[in-house]
Amino acid sequence: MSIINVAIDGPAGAGKSTISRAAAKEMGYIYIDTGALYRTVGLNAMRKGADVNDPESVIATITDDLKVELRFIDGEQRMFLNDEDVSDKIRTPEASSAASKVSAVPEVRKYLFDLQKNLAKSNNCIMDGRDIGTVVLPDAKVKIFLTASPEARAKRRYDELIEKGMDVKYEDVLADMIKRDYDDSHRAIAPLKQADDAILADTSGNTLEESIALIIKIIKDNI
Ligand code: DC
Repeated sequence: MSIINVAIDGPAGAGKSTISRAAAKEMGYIYIDTGALYRTVGLNAMRKGADVNDPESVIATITDDLKVELRFIDGEQRMFLNDEDVSDKIRTPEASSAASKVSAVPEVRKYLFDLQKNLAKSNNCIMDGRDIGTVVLPDAKVKIFLTASPEARAKRRYDELIEKGMDVKYEDVLADMIKRDYDDSHRAIAPLKQADDAILADTSGNTLEESIALIIKIIKDNI
């Protein structure tokens, strides 16, 4: 039986992870959140005191002994940085911003490329990110570009952070969202863009359940 890979790309806060996780469960595939890899490299750079705006400073944190690992515990992806579970620590606004910065550094993308490729090679999976359909898995069986308006995405991200007990303002989350969209889609390497053969799904007016049903239908119709 051949391996089925589904690539889901789109901007921050489009609901990619929640929708992909639910769709993967329904399909019996594993779900791989690649943003978490960039967040882990970003957290490592922050901890090592790097200037994340300076590519050389970021590259210096990718040392031979650096261990960025994705492990599945009870079917859920957890991120490990040098054997420490950092799955929650990579979710702060600072880690988001650091992730966006380090993801523009070609050496960081190169460092994470094989890890992503190898996971997809041996598993039926839904992999989400920014460049999965365009760069990481150009031959994915199904490619979806999942998006929603910046306001709808900021509201969702804000609600998530508040629920986690974080002290954030909606305006800051929206500003951060717009800035990250801009940075992610204007960087020279692997910019966020819809693959030519990706199916566009806009979830702005949808409930979460509607979006999940839509994505599952697109996958089932195309495998
Ligand atoms: O999806 P996320 O918000 O967790 O992603 C964090 C950052 O990582 C985001 O600013 C863009 C970057 N990223 C990327 O460049 N390529 C990916 N495949 C996934 C994420």
